[in-house]
Amino acid sequence: MDIKIAASILNADPINLEDEIIKVQESIDWIHFDVMDNHFVPNLSFGKSLLEALSRKRIKPLDAHLMIENPDLWACDFADAGADSVTFHLEAAKDPQKIIKDIHNLNKRVGVAIKPRTTYDQVKELLPLIDVLLVMTVEPGFGGQKFMDDMLLKVEQARKDITKSDLDVWIQVDGGVGFQTIEKATQSGADFLVVGSAAFAASEPEKAMKQLRNLAIASAK
Ligand code: DX5
Ligand code: ZN
Repeated sequence: MDIKIAASILNADPINLEDEIIKVQESIDWIHFDVMDNHFVPNLSFGKSLLEALSRKRIKPLDAHLMIENPDLWACDFADAGADSVTFHLEAAKDPQKIIKDIHNLNKRVGVAIKPRTTYDQVKELLPLIDVLLVMTVEPGFGGQKFMDDMLLKVEQARKDITKSDLDVWIQVDGGVGFQTIEKATQSGADFLVVGSAAFAASEPEKAMKQLRNLAIASAK
């Protein structure tokens, strides 16, 4: 499995965002950009203008995670604003297949995310159409929460089907990924790990991100 690491900047220092990213850039493949609308989740985060500004810097590809209502209306705007990959929540989408098509028409990657209470069976028919399946390992809304181990069953189920059907779909886990949990995630079949506070709240983010990357690579199947 080819491991990809994404840094979630939600809990990075917002006033020094560029420096925060540059600190960890050698150990990451993607910047994970959490968009929250205070409706789909009880928090408000970043919007398109920051995404555009980050994309102009060309530090790393941008992975937009849309925790918003009505992604049917907004998802393409984030692709246009510079996201290289756009992930929307199944629970919020009226017509997931149309969103997938629209984003692919803009030549961007597409992901579908599921919250903890959404089952793998509810999303599995979309697997042949998408590039990323995001299995949330916390209730979306905030960084720094505890990893929910029981979500790994969904990761295992997805990995089995992806292998069986020889699909090119990355399995992303997001929420509570850190020193105690990253190996469990890769051992279950996740290959795209989102790391937020485990690196940015550490005293040496650069070192923490590097160690986490090494742990993920060493434990991958
Ligand atoms: C949670 C966000 C995550 C979060 C990850 O709703 O989608 O990307 O910022 O942060 P940690 O790693 O601190 O759980
Ligand atoms: Zn996220």
